[in-house]
Amino acid sequence: MPDTLPYPPAPFVPAHVPAELVQEFDFYRNPQMSQCPFQAVGQLRGKKPIFWNPSDPQSAGCWVLTRSEDIRHVLTTPEIFSSKGEAGFSGLIGESWDMVPLEMDPPEHEDYRQLLHPLLTPKAVNKLAPAVIKRAVDLIEAVRSKGECEFMSSFGTPFPVGVFMSLMGLPESQMPIFLEWEYDLLHNPDMAVKATAALTIKNYLLELAAERRANPTDDLASFIVTAQINGEPLADDKVLGILYLFFVGGLDTVASSLGFFFRHLAEHPEQQAELRAHPEKIPHAVEEMVRRFSVVTSRRQCKEDVVLSGVQMKKGDWVKVNYALAGLDPEAFENPYEVNFERKNVRHFGFSFGPHFCLGSHLGRREMAIALQEWLARVPQWRLKPGAKLDVHGGGVFGIEHMELEWDVA
Ligand code: HEM
Repeated sequence: MPDTLPYPPAPFVPAHVPAELVQEFDFYRNPQMSQCPFQAVGQLRGKKPIFWNPSDPQSAGCWVLTRSEDIRHVLTTPEIFSSKGEAGFSGLIGESWDMVPLEMDPPEHEDYRQLLHPLLTPKAVNKLAPAVIKRAVDLIEAVRSKGECEFMSSFGTPFPVGVFMSLMGLPESQMPIFLEWEYDLLHNPDMAVKATAALTIKNYLLELAAERRANPTDDLASFIVTAQINGEPLADDKVLGILYLFFVGGLDTVASSLGFFFRHLAEHPEQQAELRAHPEKIPHAVEEMVRRFSVVTSRRQCKEDVVLSGVQMKKGDWVKVNYALAGLDPEAFENPYEVNFERKNVRHFGFSFGPHFCLGSHLGRREMAIALQEWLARVPQWRLKPGAKLDVHGGGVFGIEHMELEWDVA
């Protein structure tokens, strides 16, 4: 999840952390992150499997796990490693409501997960697909004849933002303002602007909830405000937490993943040609690229003292979980840096693992498959525009801010 605290923080090493386990690593502003965040985090492997990062801006010091086995253990042991407060968006505006169900632990988490699950099943996503395809095609057609585009602003970002807006039943005319909020909340380096965006989005979502309560329709926002758990309507902070999570959960993740996929294919024309010739390979290629380019980092907080792989952690310690490190672990995947569309058993961590496994994974996968399918069918071999700016970043969601593509126009 995105960085939410002022930068840089004061280094912090608690008394129980042995000096030999302290290692600085900047997931946010490390210059190597702007070259390739995946190579940058990959360098952590083979040194200390678990280390204490004293200057983590989100947690003011935290443990960092580098091995997929430890990551899997933490994600599947919520009774010890809690998700409460992990994203921290409400903290940005001095509040403490949870993103629902992400920042909840079982058993409470389970009720909300079950409530939301039917909205995002493969069957539900099938119903959305025609509108998602149309959205992709419209965006591509707007740039196709130009022979070039800045990918993130032309497609990577407006595509998932548009899908979110139609899920929520919001009018297309509000797209520019949503794009502005998305940028300010997730990408603006100025903390004051970020906080203002967080508050503006919160107020907008509260207004949306009130409006749908008064005039329910068949959209997702109406479903949420009229839903019940154990015969009781949802509390206002839970409604807000769900709407907020849908806003932040499905925008940056899809946009950032698409950025890395399109960059990889621009730099590997043979794989681009392979998918163009064999579109039936696209769903598996998406899976392999989600593994290779897992963009999310999240965290858990120890609910009690615990020893993990020989390392003593104390109640209250934060543990950073970087999904890219899990997917690039050679103990879990052979030749992990290779993008191999024929790879078998791609059980990656890109959508997390355990009780918080991404609820939007079917929609996310389908959006990305549709994006590839429609681009490959309409646009000939694309490549990075020589000499143009390529702006890549690390942080809570690894991503690409600016990437110019070009292709030949007949
Ligand atoms: C490429 C696209 C996506 C990626 C890589 C992704 C990744 C993730 C990850 C890693 C988590 C778990 C975080 C944690 O355990 O702390 C998560 C949870 C979640 N995601 Fe996604 N996501 C994507 C798309 C979406 C979309 C499109 C939606 C909604 C429409 C969505 C909704 C959610 C929700 C609701 C959760 C919380 C599940 C729970 O706590 O039980 N995601 N996602």
